[in-house]
Amino acid sequence: MFAPEIYAKRRAELRAKIGSGLILLPGNQNSPNNYPNNAYYFRQDSTFRYYFGLNIPSLMGVIDADSGEEWLFGDDFTVEDIIWTGPQPMLSELASGVAVKNTAPLSALQPLVERAIRLGRRIHFLPIYRGETKLQFVELLGLKPSMLHDYKSVDLMFAVAEMREKKGPEEIEALERAYQIGYAMHTTAMRMCREGVVEREIAGAVAGIAHAMGQGVSFPTIVSQHGETLHNLNSDGVLENGRLLLVDGGGESLEGYCSDHTRTYPVSGKFTPKQQEIYEIVRRAHGRIAEIIRPGMMYHTEIHLECYRLLAEGLIGAGLIKGTAEDAVASGAMYLFMPHGLGHGLGMDVHDCEAFGERSFDFSSIKERAEASATCIYRAAWRVQPGTVMSDEPGIYFIPALIDKCKAEGKFKGIVNYEALESYRDFGGIRIEDDILVTESGCRMIGDKRLPVTVEELEAVVGK
Ligand code: GLY
Ligand code: MN
Ligand code: MN
Repeated sequence: MFAPEIYAKRRAELRAKIGSGLILLPGNQNSPNNYPNNAYYFRQDSTFRYYFGLNIPSLMGVIDADSGEEWLFGDDFTVEDIIWTGPQPMLSELASGVAVKNTAPLSALQPLVERAIRLGRRIHFLPIYRGETKLQFVELLGLKPSMLHDYKSVDLMFAVAEMREKKGPEEIEALERAYQIGYAMHTTAMRMCREGVVEREIAGAVAGIAHAMGQGVSFPTIVSQHGETLHNLNSDGVLENGRLLLVDGGGESLEGYCSDHTRTYPVSGKFTPKQQEIYEIVRRAHGRIAEIIRPGMMYHTEIHLECYRLLAEGLIGAGLIKGTAEDAVASGAMYLFMPHGLGHGLGMDVHDCEAFGERSFDFSSIKERAEASATCIYRAAWRVQPGTVMSDEPGIYFIPALIDKCKAEGKFKGIVNYEALESYRDFGGIRIEDDILVTESGCRMIGDKRLPVTVEELEAVVGK
């Protein structure tokens, strides 16, 4: 947890941005796995933690944007609870640790909200993503679950996204700690990689590191010889010489900040010439993007499309694309090779602030642009700025079903060399990913040392 003044300052800034109404920021609740007392691993809501700092379940933060009053609602532990949990701080003690003066039991929340509704005051809340929280809001607001979406506060979404996007120095330090976890996870995976090992053994070992060094993985680790399946969570494969292994994983620091890195390397420890050719195309794009990012750039047009252009140049050299890189990008053909965005925001969520929409109300045209570009709606009109942290994760994937579909539909004729693609059907996929901080003058990678990334560096560590 950071110093109490940091949370007080963040809440004051949010209040000033919103101006009027009651802001409700729910913390997450424990979510039962197979019976109520056996819950899933607890993960706090990142926005609640950003403004109220506490990493315990069943709290609600409230800010009255008109009066400036702030509350933490929650129930103190009873002796029956303490038998199971051990002694716990009182809610009032927890609140003073994050500079909140008022506390009250959860039962006092309903009258406060009802009174605000009676007075015609605006109730601000973010899009709700958990069933338990939806039920809580259905009761509090007297709405049907299907109506919650219509009543979300777009003003609050933009205000929170704007604040969470611009990382402060204490957040960057936490991201550096998350990097150290990612570094240990990935170098362990590299050393474990050899023929006969089951992918799951690597996934389990790196998850153990994330739990030992921080608060766990920032998303379920992808360890797969089928790198062409973008988020492949099946880790049943047995490593075979000749194949590439893709490992995409990251950890969370104890403050809840995430890292997210990907490396792809040969199980045998030695790239074949064909693997190396495609690997170098991805690595060039990854390295170049990390050089060109500047504050003020538009993510989609100036970063994502530049990545597509760099990959297209490489694929022309490999004989898989014909014509010019510009034509390949303009035709949409790059979607066939990299059907995802070059990067995403990173912070307290591994895809930071992605539920919070665009910095524009022009949703229809943004949607069209997003569909055309394979980037999500949030990212289509994203302008990076000092303090933005984003992933740089280009890839080239050979997805037989996508190749067949595009070919059957007659797409990208004269641009994609479908004949040459035939011999890549069992190649798999390559992705390289690091996390970048946008600075006042350019950008730098998070982390004091680089994960092995060149062919020579990887060959020196894989299986050793
Ligand atoms: N780990 C998911 C991603 O790279 O976006
Ligand atoms: Mn990743
Ligand atoms: Mn990522």
